[in-house]
Amino acid sequence: ASVSVIMPAAGSGQRFGSQSNKLFAVLDGKPLWQHAVDRFQHRGDVRQIVLAISEEDDSTFREQIAAISSAVPIHLVRGGATRSESVRAALDQVQKFAAESASNGTATKTLVAIHDAARPLVRQVDLDRVFAKAAETGAAILAAPVSGTLKRATSHGSDTVDRRHTYVALTPQVFAIDVICQAYARDRGRMATDDAQLVERTSHPVQLVTGSADNLKITFPEDLRIAEAILNECRS
Ligand code: C5P
Repeated sequence: ASVSVIMPAAGSGQRFGSQSNKLFAVLDGKPLWQHAVDRFQHRGDVRQIVLAISEEDDSTFREQIAAISSAVPIHLVRGGATRSESVRAALDQVQKFAAESASNGTATKTLVAIHDAARPLVRQVDLDRVFAKAAETGAAILAAPVSGTLKRATSHGSDTVDRRHTYVALTPQVFAIDVICQAYARDRGRMATDDAQLVERTSHPVQLVTGSADNLKITFPEDLRIAEAILNECRS
């Protein structure tokens, strides 16, 4: 399969607490977003990477992208007010490319991999496995089994959620292009915190592929220190 990667990168990172987008925070000598891009750009199956960015960050992204050499084209599209809107904008771009290559007679089965630019540590073996599962089934996501005890706040206090069969959704979330486009087409405007949720609503089953819990999303400043420690451990 040939994979188009969508990276929503248009968030404001309020919880991170910095003035600028957290994706420009430096981890091991390069901005966070670039770690995410680098995990995909050298793979033989990745054809392009589409970054959804905000107007505010446009010039910074352009400068930083101009300073690196990427093995695959990196396209920029304008993101939206929510993560879903940002993904939708990138998906429109990916669909255009897919239509062009179909009319050039170069179409192969296209997978769309949607990956948070704020996840710098995804492993190649996990990408191999989730791409393969998506190629086979049309929809697969990385997910990590819940390790702690899960509580639900109730009106009287709390109760405990049975954690067997319970996973935390990670990214990338990978879909056949038709599957994800259909999901976005029928779900205009509805809220979703990940893309698999939209596909689940179409009743196309989404397969869970167990991925490494190292694949953390940088949300708070302390997450950067954890990411640094993981990178250092991988080097030793
Ligand atoms: O804020 P959070 O880290 O959960 O967002 C997940 C990803 O979605 C980030 O990479 C962020 O830049 C992106 N995002 C986006 N457009 C938004 C909000 C978030 O592309 N409006």
